Amino acid sequence: MTKVLIATEKPFAAAATDGIRKIFAEAGFESVFLENYTDPNELLKAVTDADAMIIRSDKATRAVIEAAPKLKIIVRAGAGFDNIDLVACTEKGIVAMNTPGQNSNAVAELTFGLLVFMARANFKGGSGTELKGKKLGIHANGNVGRNVARIARGFGMEVYAFDPFVTKETIEKDGIIAADSIEQLYSTCQYISLNIPATEKTKKSINFDLLSKMPKGATVINTARKEVIDEVGLKQFFEARPDFKYVSDILPDNHSELMQFENRYFSTPKKQGAETSEANINAGLAAASQIVKFITTGDKTFQVNK
Ligand code: 3PG
Repeated sequence: MTKVLIATEKPFAAAATDGIRKIFAEAGFESVFLENYTDPNELLKAVTDADAMIIRSDKATRAVIEAAPKLKIIVRAGAGFDNIDLVACTEKGIVAMNTPGQNSNAVAELTFGLLVFMARANFKGGSGTELKGKKLGIHANGNVGRNVARIARGFGMEVYAFDPFVTKETIEKDGIIAADSIEQLYSTCQYISLNIPATEKTKKSINFDLLSKMPKGATVINTARKEVIDEVGLKQFFEARPDFKYVSDILPDNHSELMQFENRYFSTPKKQGAETSEANINAGLAAASQIVKFITTGDKTFQVNK
């Protein structure tokens, strides 16, 4: 019998786990849940006889992959797959997939929760600013970015985007103004929403020089990955620009140092973007269906290690 391990250090909502169980039961697969684990060794043990695995931000390292001789497929229930060792997967003939778009509305809605919190003086009673008429730069224009743009238009914001992988024509079809370069995006927009993946190219790419281009009242909202920020440059920029604000749902490594910038810096303690039952259901059920399809028909749609 095909055995699927659902390893979620941050578990899915109950409605999602019920749905995942049902999909696998109907396919005649066994499903085993490893939830809320704190020691990576628990994952190493649990994966030994798994044929397939669903994860969220859980780390599918080379050690995990090597501990799983029967593993044929790993599906990251979510967008970013920087937590999977793709080279090790390919070497072992394991298919790695993500579930693009399934949790992007949840992340985009949280972006606005964080944005309003910062614009309204952290809900401490002081006078804030409105978003209507302000310029928002989307960096970059993928599934989350496009949802951020949709909501921004409801707020009456002027929306810009830069994405090296999407043509200007495609960006502009959504009523978004396409910036010519990253530098132009940052120098035009008071608000920047980070929606880029963590890759070798993007890691530490949001640095002091790029932030310095932002106009007065600069606010960066990071619901992407902490790795894309040059944290030393971020702290230096806070010191250089008393108008600068940074808000995130991913705790930076230098969080305790940034705490001194009271009212200008805020991070949720745990990653929150995809923490809605809708996103859990969308991504969790998509992951389960993708596994059933792959095992029963060989369908490799959404494979990311090609
Ligand atoms: C993603 O890449 O899909 C998001 O960052 C959500 O991650 P999570 O499933 O760990 O909340």
